Amino acid sequence: MGLSHNPPPKFRCIMRIRSLIRVDFPGALALAALVAGVGLSRAEERPVYLDPAQPLEARVGDLLQRLTLEEKIGFLHADSKFSTAPVPRLGVPTRWLTDGPHGVREDIGPHTWSPAGRTDDYATFMPALSALASTWNVDLARACGAVLGQECRARGKDILLGPIADIARTPLSGRIYEYFGEDPFLNARMSVEYVRGVQDQDVAACIKHFAGNNQEQGRAIIDMDMDERTLREIYLPPFEAAVKEANVWAVMGAYTKFRGEHCACSDYLVNRILKGEWGFQGLVMSDWGGTYSTREAALGGLDLEMGTLITGTEQGRDYKDYYLANPFLEGLRKGEYPMSVLDDKVRRNLRVMFATHVFDTRKPGALNTPAHQATAQRIAEEGMVLLKNETNALPLNSSDITSVAVIGEDAVRHHATGLFGAGVKTMHEITPLEGIVQRVGDNVNVTYSIGYSKQAGSNLIERAVAAARQADVAIIIAGLNHSRYLDDEGWDRKDLRLPYGQDELIRRVAQANPRTIVVLISGPAIELDPWLGQVPAVLQANYPGMEGGTALARVLFGDVNPSGKLACTYPRRLMDSPAHALGTYPGTNGILFYKEGLLVGYRWFDAKNIEPLFPFGYGLSYTRFEYSGLKLVEGRDAQDPVVTAEFEIANTGDRPGAEVAELYVHPSQPSLPRPVKELKGFRKVALKPGEKQTVSIPLDRRAFAFYDPSKPGWVAEAGDFKIQIGSSSRDIRLEDAFHLARTTVEK
Ligand code: BGC
Repeated sequence: MGLSHNPPPKFRCIMRIRSLIRVDFPGALALAALVAGVGLSRAEERPVYLDPAQPLEARVGDLLQRLTLEEKIGFLHADSKFSTAPVPRLGVPTRWLTDGPHGVREDIGPHTWSPAGRTDDYATFMPALSALASTWNVDLARACGAVLGQECRARGKDILLGPIADIARTPLSGRIYEYFGEDPFLNARMSVEYVRGVQDQDVAACIKHFAGNNQEQGRAIIDMDMDERTLREIYLPPFEAAVKEANVWAVMGAYTKFRGEHCACSDYLVNRILKGEWGFQGLVMSDWGGTYSTREAALGGLDLEMGTLITGTEQGRDYKDYYLANPFLEGLRKGEYPMSVLDDKVRRNLRVMFATHVFDTRKPGALNTPAHQATAQRIAEEGMVLLKNETNALPLNSSDITSVAVIGEDAVRHHATGLFGAGVKTMHEITPLEGIVQRVGDNVNVTYSIGYSKQAGSNLIERAVAAARQADVAIIIAGLNHSRYLDDEGWDRKDLRLPYGQDELIRRVAQANPRTIVVLISGPAIELDPWLGQVPAVLQANYPGMEGGTALARVLFGDVNPSGKLACTYPRRLMDSPAHALGTYPGTNGILFYKEGLLVGYRWFDAKNIEPLFPFGYGLSYTRFEYSGLKLVEGRDAQDPVVTAEFEIANTGDRPGAEVAELYVHPSQPSLPRPVKELKGFRKVALKPGEKQTVSIPLDRRAFAFYDPSKPGWVAEAGDFKIQIGSSSRDIRLEDAFHLARTTVEK
């Protein structure tokens, strides 16, 4: 193998480190011993709160009445960057929280963001949530949650700060790769399963950032607003589903303000909607440093104040000065706040502890297991989206080629660390170059050329072109890298272009070698127009996690048939996207109104008849699928499902593959403006060549409903609808009419 520039680390011999670390945690016996040790009376050898046979609320009430005022306050604020204080007298342990959505973050010092320097805090680095969303596979969302939950337990963490359920409103968002995409239904399905997976392991999931961290620019100062239907129909559904269906135990408020109140302390969002209407029983925590006054926090529904940076200095920060610490205590003593407000907050914190069995025997967890890494690989494989494949450029056949030129800095870059809450300290991260080298074996000569770089370099393009010219196939690993303004927390992107001259690189390499495959390592979306017409194949690999290189090679060489579909529309140009077309991004003087209303993502492109570059729900396969025989089977009126769509999908190609069938509901004559169509169901089916399967997608009343603030409630309006079954939002294969007989209103 020849190297034309910057040789990557020893990729010839990739050492796979498989560490099986198990850490068992003290269960009920240890706690009981601790409590006994601090001298409870005989009669109280097993107090109600330590008895797993007692109902949860009885245990909460029992522990609550044993706590002093000061001890109660201790539950409401951080004691270090990611923990709250223990109450040793009663055997209440320290609670440990951890980022993040893609893996259990490495431990940091108690009062600094710098690594703690431990050797036992490695964790499985999962693909980004944008990759998970692109799988459209709810079982994988569940499996991902289970991995994270098990790793939390093995690392002694109680609350996982994920998933992120914010809607991808603008493609510029610096955290879009951490999101489940632009559609509330897909987002809700993935969030629910992810939460279930985590919480099945005796760990609380913390869904964030309620109710909208939709851009990074100005996130700490923005005061956002939108009409009520948009709030209810677009931004709240993933949170609502996680509360009602998955019983999520923790919610993190966004930094942003909503209608003048900070989201985490918003009387409307937290007290009225989340805790009132939805009956949420768990705790609401602030984002780090996202609390601004004791009164707002006390009365706005905040139950746990986290962060470090309120005073602006990290050194010497005293957690006792947090808004919900001594200032709240003083307010309570002066009678400024009723004790019932305090007790409600403490109850919510305790409930999460009991629900996750902190005082009982807990699941022990497992860390860095081969099974976890296999889940990471599977998500990476299923999350890759084949955007273009002309002349059957893919899959590559390793016995037909003798040389491959791999080009691009992202071919050798690791993406796991340095990402604030999204970073993970991983035992290994297989890069694209390593994956390709490993896959092709010794019979294919692989050359590597950096082609572009964050650090400027001379002749990078020329060298890459020369390498490409001499190879049978050129694979350009293009994309972003989590640098500032390139998929990074705190900063949005400035445009959708590839940085560091990659457009020019791709054009030049494609001229030199017509068999040029472009792989994108990035969140959605990238502007591809500058070169899309010149290359035969493009694969969006997202950020594929620690096994990403292996997964990528398996897709490129046809061991895996790509089955991912886009969870975000790819616009031809930024100005085609609603927030940008209407000039509402990033807001003016800190005020941001979501003027596009319901028309987020494909809803906008449909309504305005704009041709996207790649539509929502789009993704190619190496095989072909045919849809047929749509039947709408009606349920009994007023019962769920009201109707079930049944149809067949056949694999008519010559390779096994999986297809995502997408169900959209189109209201034919709504009494008020509604999106042209909305995703209300989907199924992913795996089919062998020649195989045909019947697919059933049930629809409940909510699938037909809009939110009417005047009722208030969800109105499923009697009338005509079209049920559309598509391979993407712009590739509708089957359609039938459905008449909803009766109008109903549900809360
Ligand atoms: C992020 C959260 C994260 C927290 C703790 C904040 O900046 O917005 O998502 O959980 O930091 O790291």
